[in-house]
Amino acid sequence: MEIQKNPVNTQGEKVRSVAWEYNCLEEVCGACSMKINGKVRQACSALVDRLEQPIILEPMETFPVEKDLVVNRERMLSALKKIKGWIPIDGTYFMGLIV
Ligand code: FES
Repeated sequence: MEIQKNPVNTQGEKVRSVAWEYNCLEEVCGACSMKINGKVRQACSALVDRLEQPIILEPMETFPVEKDLVVNRERMLSALKKIKGWIPIDGTYFMGLIV
């Protein structure tokens, strides 16, 4: 979200923002998972001021990269559908995608 406010490269030149996904923003869905400073974790719970600087963001290596930090998690989601690996709530959901 900080990059999105002012996307620049290492020379300070304006560039397009980075594509990444999010959904719940509360460590539930895993949509925001990415490598942060070399460790896979959920970006929505990574507090920028508590991370070693500079912060290095990379896509997860386990899934095919679609664009920037967005990976294709279909393989995992299909497996969850097969075993009905979720807790039913009210039937609504939204998968956020910022491109
Ligand atoms: S775990 Fe859902 S947006 Fe981070």
